[in-house]
Order: sequence, then structure tokens, then C-alpha cells
Amino acid sequence: MNSIKLYNPGPINVSDDTYQAMSNAMIGHRGSDFVNLYSDIHPKLQKLFGTTSPVYLSTSSAWGVMEASVRNLSSKKVLNCCNGAFSDKWLDVSKRCGLEAESLSSEWGSPIDPNELDEKLSTGHFDLVTLVHNETSTGVMNPLKEISQVVAKYDDISLVVDTVSSFSVVPINTDELGIDVVLTGSQKALALPPGLALFTVSEKALKKAESTPNRGYYFDFLEFHKNWEKMMTPSTPCISLIYGLQHQLNKIFDEGLDARFQRHEELNKMVHDWVSKNGFNHFAPEGYRSKSLTCVANNREIDVAAWIKRMRDKHSLIINGGYGKIKGTTFRISNMGDESVDSINQMLEAITDTLS
Ligand SMILES: Cc1ncc(COP(=O)(O)O)c(C=O)c1O
Repeated sequence: MNSIKLYNPGPINVSDDTYQAMSNAMIGHRGSDFVNLYSDIHPKLQKLFGTTSPVYLSTSSAWGVMEASVRNLSSKKVLNCCNGAFSDKWLDVSKRCGLEAESLSSEWGSPIDPNELDEKLSTGHFDLVTLVHNETSTGVMNPLKEISQVVAKYDDISLVVDTVSSFSVVPINTDELGIDVVLTGSQKALALPPGLALFTVSEKALKKAESTPNRGYYFDFLEFHKNWEKMMTPSTPCISLIYGLQHQLNKIFDEGLDARFQRHEELNKMVHDWVSKNGFNHFAPEGYRSKSLTCVANNREIDVAAWIKRMRDKHSLIINGGYGKIKGTTFRISNMGDESVDSINQMLEAITDTLS
């Protein structure tokens, strides 16, 4: 069905069988058909999120829930961990919501330092930390376990983690790590079209939301929870996408979580091998490299835009030419979703063929 294959890090390729599942007949969202649909997917989502807390469905892109998290959980000051385009923007979003906010910054391409985080939090100024687990712009995967261990030392500080481009690629153990909010979006590794965000909120954070003013309506965590108790959503959800999600979840659990994580690891390694074989460097340091995408430093100084045009024209596929301030000096290749050894091999052959 797709005419151009997408190897940019999201939106990614959606399989024909998923489009088919999304064309199921429409149902009402206030009746038993929707309750049955949500009830069917919910335990699978809890497993993927590594939680026994509710998993909510938001008809929005991920930014909706990213904004909601700061609005629902901060009445003192937000500490936004910033080391790439998405995490930097979260600081701006916190401020635009009228909140006090400060950044803990690392250079683009470097991970967040848990010791520096500890130092900041020990000032007593903050009640919320935001972290982008996998910075899609730089290909850096932040040390989630170490960071959550630091935040866990502070009883009154909540931790919100964006797993937009790592969810279902690597295990996310929300409860074990004591994370308050984990959120993701449909258009990355879940291999669905954009428009659905998924998130979980701890009981402690939900309690905190009760006393936070100005939560609004559309993204009020308490509205999500009240409706979740009936296996419904606050407003009319994107039902077709949820059908697609049901289908993808069945595929994910048929494959098995360990096998899925292993497959992503293997496909990611194929891209890494291509990087070294073709004389490129990684933008992210060893030990902190994403498993879902590879951000490649353009040390050969090739014309990335012209290269992508060639691969699009000749092979009907694209990678991404870098994001934000590192556009052109980096490029990014995704290995998320339903990809296989064969499809990644074909993509690597096509991008090699058009490289020179
Ligand atoms: C890590 C990360 N966070 C947040 C977003 C924003 O997601 P959306 O555009 O779906 O709101 C993206 C999008 O690429 C992302 O990669």
C-alpha cells in the first residue's frame, strides 16, 4: 500500500494488515463495543508499560500528554532534562503553560548525568522532572534506571518519561523504576499512523494531580482516570487507530516481547555495521546509543538532501536528513516497528547504491 518506504524515525511504515484492521466498522464510544475493545488491549498495554497502573488513551499526538504532564503535576517548579530537540522543547512548553521551569542541560549527543540531576534536586526547588528517554533528534538513549533511582530519593518529586521512540523497542519497567508518568505515541515503534498517545500515571501522581490547579479539561489526568474506570475515554477517541493498536498488540505478543526486543537489537546492529563499513561516525557515544534509530555524524560531508532525493527517486524509500540544529551534519535511520532482516537489508542496499 505504501508508495514510499519510510526509514526516518517516525512516522514509520504501517503494514497493510494494520491498515486492514483499522478499517473495521465504526462503533460507538459509550457502549459495550468500545468497552470490550479497551478491555481487550488494556492488559497487553500494562505489560508493555511494565505497570499495574491504568493505561490511558489520548486522542492527540505525544505532545498533548507531554504538556498535560507538566500541567497536572507541577505547582512549584519543573526541572526539564534537556539534551536534544524534543527535551529542549519540553522546557519551552513548561514555560508556555505558565509554570516555573529550569533546564538541566547536556550537550546534544551527550546523555543526562544522574549526578548533576541529584545536585539540582537536592536544592529543594523542584516538584517535577521531565526526561526524554530516547532523544530521537540525536539518537541518545538516556540512562533511565540511574535517573529514576536519583528521582526516587525525593518523595515529593515526580518523574515523567517520554518513551516516544523507545517504547516496545526496549523494556520499560515503569513500576520497578518507580516512574510516575510514562508516555508514548502511536507513530513510532508501534507502527501505527499518528494521532494516538498512550500513557500511564502512578497512584501517587494521580493524587498529586488532585491538588494541582488549572489542569484544564481535555488533558486532565483525573478525567482520564474517571473514564478509565468504565473502560472509556473522556472524549470521542480515534477508534480506527485503537483497532490498529489492537492488531499491533496481538502481533507483538504473538512474536513475544523478548523476541521483539532481540529483533530490534539485531536490526539496529545491522545499521551500526553499515555505519562503520561506510566510514561514518556515530553522533551518540558508545553505551548511550538508541536501539530504535541510528543518528549518524556526516563526517564524510556528503550532500544529505541530494542523497535522500536519489534514494527516493530510484528506490522509493527515504531516511531522515537530521533534525533541528544538526540537520545536514547528521542523518538518521530508523529500525523500528515491523521491519525484518530482509527489509533492513534492502534498505541498506538502496542507501548504499545511491550514496555516491
Ligand atoms: C522523543 C520524542 N518526543 C516527542 C515527540 C513528539 O511527538 P508528537 O509529534 O507525536 O507529538 C517526538 C516526535 O518525533 C519524539 O521523537
